[in-house]
Amino acid sequence: MKSKKSFSRRAFLAGTAATSALALSPKSLKSDENIFSSRTRYRPTLGIVKLNGNENPYGPSQKALAAINEASKHSGYYVNSSGEKLRSMIAERHGLSTDYIVLSSGSTAALTNIALASLKKGHILAPDLFWDSTANLASEVSQNKLKRLPSNIMHEIDLKNMRDSITKDISLVHITNPNNPTGSVLNNSDLKEFCREASNYSTVLIDEAYNDLTDKPNSSTMIPLIKEGKNIIVTRTFSKIHGLAGLRIGYMLAKPEIISEVMKFGFIGNWTTNKAGVAAAIASYNDEIFLSHSKSMINEGKEMVMEAIKKNGLSALPSKANFIFVNLDSLNAEQFRKSMAKRNIIVSGIFRNHKNWSRVSMGKIDDLQKYINALPEVLEEIS
Ligand SMILES: Cc1ncc(COP(=O)(O)O)c(C=O)c1O
Repeated sequence: MKSKKSFSRRAFLAGTAATSALALSPKSLKSDENIFSSRTRYRPTLGIVKLNGNENPYGPSQKALAAINEASKHSGYYVNSSGEKLRSMIAERHGLSTDYIVLSSGSTAALTNIALASLKKGHILAPDLFWDSTANLASEVSQNKLKRLPSNIMHEIDLKNMRDSITKDISLVHITNPNNPTGSVLNNSDLKEFCREASNYSTVLIDEAYNDLTDKPNSSTMIPLIKEGKNIIVTRTFSKIHGLAGLRIGYMLAKPEIISEVMKFGFIGNWTTNKAGVAAAIASYNDEIFLSHSKSMINEGKEMVMEAIKKNGLSALPSKANFIFVNLDSLNAEQFRKSMAKRNIIVSGIFRNHKNWSRVSMGKIDDLQKYINALPEVLEEIS
């Protein structure tokens, strides 16, 4: 006869095994949740052609994916010194020390702080069209305002007018270069000259989210002016050519006096980033093969879309970014957006009062082909 003791031990062990089996089977696999939802949750909705976020569909790179996998295993711990590694890589590339660089959760966080810090002292001066989300938001909670200058019919920024408009109550001049939504890039030496002059009167912010997509990223950046000691801030992001938009890593560069002012207005810095994002950014930063592949695919997409736009009797601004600003002529961009959306193709609607301009982001070639195929029908439908 088996002893009571051995029986209970067996029963206990069996019970333990059952309990651990339960513990090992994730709740999401057992219950109400459809297993497919977890596979599709993190990607654009299946069947939807997403051309509205200026993302890089070719990212993350293989190197970044491997780094994300490794770093994620340690996500139980807060971010550690990996942020320092990324800052030192950025500093080294630009010949600055790390106290000129602050990481943030996407460049959005840094841009928001910059806007809040500036509006405390005066108004923000900007062109009519630029990536205005952060300046808009901050101006809604500030006494000081965002002042916009008109651009010409081709949405070109008039730097002379901008210089002449820097009055004593302007604390920040905000320029996006290449610009969003236009995709236009300012002449390099004109912008440098403007920055050198204007920064004597106000801080100048250049949002360089799309710098890597320009023909000569090293000469089109304003970062060297920071090194000269000018009153200039540059923001950059890993959301665009690096294909890491979902991992929220960006950064600002400026002299330490400016940085300490900006840091008073909300949390930015290593601690507000995330391990997987930092790891991916480190792995991607010097991955020239991936970066040039992304750039050439984006350029190929732009050529296809430009050609289709012309074929359909429309025009567009030349773009140095990963999107194109299309002139719909007499047609309405909101109707265009709706008609594309009916066909599961998502593009942006109207920007400010420019009712006949529509922005399309460079998605994968197949997705762009769907946009191109839909163009004649959509134009016909809204004409
Ligand atoms: C010019 C520009 N700056 C900044 C951002 C914000 O990007 P993120 O917060 O992902 O760095 C965007 C987003 O599209 C942008 O177009």
